[in-house]
Amino acid sequence: MEKETTHKKRILTGMRPTGKLHLGHYVGALENWLALQNEYECFFLIADYQALGDHLGETERIRNSVIDVVLDWMAVGLDHEKSSFVVQSYIPEYAELFMLLSMFVPLSLVDRNPTLKAEIAQQKKSDVSLGFYNYPVSQAADILLSQAHLVPVGEDQLPHIELTREIVRKFNTIYNTKIFQEPKALIGRIPRLVGIDGQAKASKSLNNAIFLSDSPEEIKAKVKKMYTDPTRIRATDPGHVEGNVVFSYLDAFYNDKSDLKALKERYEKGQIKDVEVKQLLAETLCAFIAPIREKRSYYANNMKEVRRALQEGTERARTVAQKTMTQVRDVMGITKY
Ligand code: TRP
Repeated sequence: MEKETTHKKRILTGMRPTGKLHLGHYVGALENWLALQNEYECFFLIADYQALGDHLGETERIRNSVIDVVLDWMAVGLDHEKSSFVVQSYIPEYAELFMLLSMFVPLSLVDRNPTLKAEIAQQKKSDVSLGFYNYPVSQAADILLSQAHLVPVGEDQLPHIELTREIVRKFNTIYNTKIFQEPKALIGRIPRLVGIDGQAKASKSLNNAIFLSDSPEEIKAKVKKMYTDPTRIRATDPGHVEGNVVFSYLDAFYNDKSDLKALKERYEKGQIKDVEVKQLLAETLCAFIAPIREKRSYYANNMKEVRRALQEGTERARTVAQKTMTQVRDVMGITKY
């Protein structure tokens, strides 16, 4: 019998490789992952199949982004010795389990998925592909293939975890088995970081994000462009902190909370200029990103190490995947005739 190598609880979470990662990814996900990687057996998935759903024909972009994402992960300190970095398309079992699980999902359930609905509306296309429509189910397969207990995600992903839990209940009931357990979601400290232009979410496609790989010049230029308080015309006018992008970023990245509180009070009394607050934010972000950028360039110059990390992580995940699929085929009666 195979020996269990670990008794830690298991985590699976992932990202689509569609570009370099930004500060929103850091506070919404990576920070959380870093804290979890000692306590749990973690699988961090680079969901390149999923990225195809809305980036079909952008093969180069996806390929480059797989590397960008791993570099960003390693740069922030995710440790490929402790955790497994997994390339989705290297593991055919994801596709197999996805196909099987799709049988358990009523169309009406997918139709009601609020995140999917919003994304389809955003795509402004009348011809959303079946592949894209199906991605919440493929995500359930991602989670269940590794039999994860916990799934750290942003709040927009909660409907997909709920779907996963429903699939588990149905699967276990129909086949009278307990192979799968219902995974739990885990939400980060800051579920969503605003864009520098004040839009609800920082994102690459909206061109309103500060990347973990940005240079000090880029950071300064972006902070300079940031929205503040539109009602404040002169620096002596009382300012608003609520809904002010610069303060949202300070809340997320400035560590001295009592200092920040004093700064907010001065801003509200009209005792400090926007440029001064922006200066503080630019310094804070430059200091935060500097070591990340440095580590990233180390790994970019040592791609062998990066490729090995991917290969080893994927192999560990595949071992687990094959074990799960053997159980699934067995209970579903998919065996030799
Ligand atoms: N949909 C997730 C995102 O866009 C990425 C993802 C793919 C994922 N598979 C997953 C997240 C499994 C959690 C679990 O960020």
